[in-house]
Amino acid sequence: MKKFRIVPSVTEYAEFADFAKEEGLGSNDLILTNEYIFHPVISDLNLGCQTVFQEKFGGGEPTDVMVDAILDELREKKYNKIIAVGGGTIIDIAKVLAVAEPQDSVDDLYEKMQTGLEKHHPLIIVPTTCGTGSEVTNISIINRTTKGVKQGIVSESMFADEAALIPGMLMSLPYGVFATSSIDAMVHAVESYLSPNACALSEMFSTEALHLLLENWQKAVAAEEKDAWKKYAMEFLRASNFAGIAFGHAGCAAVHAMAYPLGGVHHIPHGQANQLMFADVMRKYAVKKPVGKLEMLQRIISTELSVPTGKALDSLYKLMDSVMMKDPLREHGVTEEELPVFAKSVVDTQQRLLGNNYVELSEGELLEIYKAAF
Ligand SMILES: [Fe+2]
Repeated sequence: MKKFRIVPSVTEYAEFADFAKEEGLGSNDLILTNEYIFHPVISDLNLGCQTVFQEKFGGGEPTDVMVDAILDELREKKYNKIIAVGGGTIIDIAKVLAVAEPQDSVDDLYEKMQTGLEKHHPLIIVPTTCGTGSEVTNISIINRTTKGVKQGIVSESMFADEAALIPGMLMSLPYGVFATSSIDAMVHAVESYLSPNACALSEMFSTEALHLLLENWQKAVAAEEKDAWKKYAMEFLRASNFAGIAFGHAGCAAVHAMAYPLGGVHHIPHGQANQLMFADVMRKYAVKKPVGKLEMLQRIISTELSVPTGKALDSLYKLMDSVMMKDPLREHGVTEEELPVFAKSVVDTQQRLLGNNYVELSEGELLEIYKAAF
């Protein structure tokens, strides 16, 4: 049986300055971030830390080429702690850097993963979005462009030593990134709750994440002001973190599995792709197994949204639409001919996620879900 654990220490600070003071950051430390995050909030503190700006090594998701270029740049540098300040890409790269020796390349690390990776630098992660929860997980997804596959590097050694939640770092986040990342966190909470691999403790984190998200989404939407969510930035950070703890144990499932081809082929942002699939996966679950944990989930949501249990999921879809309006897949450039190809690729490549489904879904059923969302 998989044991429930939270490995990194989780800390909270109002501002980066409070965190830097507490950690005594200085010239021995390496900050991996983006320049737009670094200036002016961190640069004005004159900490004397060494820096690496990820975008200088390539844009978008982490690739082997990007990470190898960063490893090249770091080869001659002497530093102790790594402080990753950023979204999913920065966090995934930092986890890899923490287990790399100076001479290593990404290929070497995949090789070493078979026998066990070792941590060579203490790692602190400061998330600057409120969705991935990846500050508390030990997996890093790298696009191995040389091999044409996206592959996870996973190791106990890739857990951070500390995850620091700093709402001050979310203040420059554009609304669209807030919306997609908080929807991602909500999907993590629901999928981990329904997973057959959940335990009582992971369910507690899923439930509390849902509570924080639904309560504060409602407040932000009611305020009818685009930046209203920023008042609740700490609550959204905690929700993302709790959902990360929950799915780190229980896993994500069909929504994530079916969202991957949408991201891969049509470059739809991860959280948005999840939203496009979420309602239709839940509807299929409700048809196949209405009694069970889905019913318990509906009860939790009905309390949060003050609606009857039978209307809970529909009310949730409506609330998600007010956070970010959902369009059918065809509006995002997806074609009808692609749907069976996507359904097949999910069965062929996403078994790790499908194993966490609330109920088993066949290739034919996955296709029906894609058609419903189309
Ligand atoms: Fe996700």
